[in-house]
Amino acid sequence: MSGVLKNLKTFKMLASHPEKRISFNRLIRNGDLVIVYERHDNMKAVTVSEGSVLQNRFGVFKHSDWIGKPFGSKVFSSKGGFVYLLAPTPELWTLVLSHRTQILYIADISFVIMYLEIVPGCLVLESGTGSGSLTTSLARAVAPTGHVYTFDFHEQRSASARDDFERTGLSNLISCGVRDIQGEGFPDEFTGLADSVFLDLPQPWLAIPSAAKMLKQDGTLCSFSPCIEQVQRSCDVLQSRFT
Ligand SMILES: C[S@@+](CC[C@H](N)C(=O)[O-])C[C@H]1O[C@@H](n2cnc3c(N)ncnc32)[C@H](O)[C@@H]1O
Repeated sequence: MSGVLKNLKTFKMLASHPEKRISFNRLIRNGDLVIVYERHDNMKAVTVSEGSVLQNRFGVFKHSDWIGKPFGSKVFSSKGGFVYLLAPTPELWTLVLSHRTQILYIADISFVIMYLEIVPGCLVLESGTGSGSLTTSLARAVAPTGHVYTFDFHEQRSASARDDFERTGLSNLISCGVRDIQGEGFPDEFTGLADSVFLDLPQPWLAIPSAAKMLKQDGTLCSFSPCIEQVQRSCDVLQSRFT
């Protein structure tokens, strides 16, 4: 059985069949990413590896016991403690990812995706990538035929995000670029092609002229800022660039 399982493609965040909705309706395999749930405030992402164990205050859990069980299963340690093995959805990933920056959480992510009207097939430009929290949900929204191009000027941060997208199985939907978007704007090759642009930058008003150039005629822009002064400056520039 395990020989057969080894030869199959491991499951990450999205179903590999392009016409299917995201589905975790299959059994856990060696190499899968799972979210180990202890309690609502204690979860972690673990890649299943047949010879490995997970050790926590509830005991020692053998990964080999997890293989072949459905996502959502309750699994037991040698001393009778238990955890749940959940599917790695973007909602859960946002709660377990390593915070390299401030991130967007589910409430804001939902709002952004709805108001930007992001649907399968969209081409989305984003900056900065940060910890990739929003990017992960953008990827699910544009799948299976769209694409997210995300830019950050911090090389290491961009590389870590790329590693995460590889781990979550989203790398075919996301391209990461290292670029100073406030200084240089988005690459010219996207001019007039973007369905949506999302900005989470310290001085977003500097990037708005470029964002306007990138958008399709009926494209949508969202700029996310924590301070009202940033919002005011962005609105001033928006008024001169958008209808
Ligand atoms: C708050 S974080 C973005 C968090 C992201 N929205 C998330 O949900 O994980 C802001 C990011 O913008 C990046 N950044 C700041 N100035 C930039 C610039 N001029 N060009 C590109 N990225 C920039 C920072 O390196 C940082 O990673």
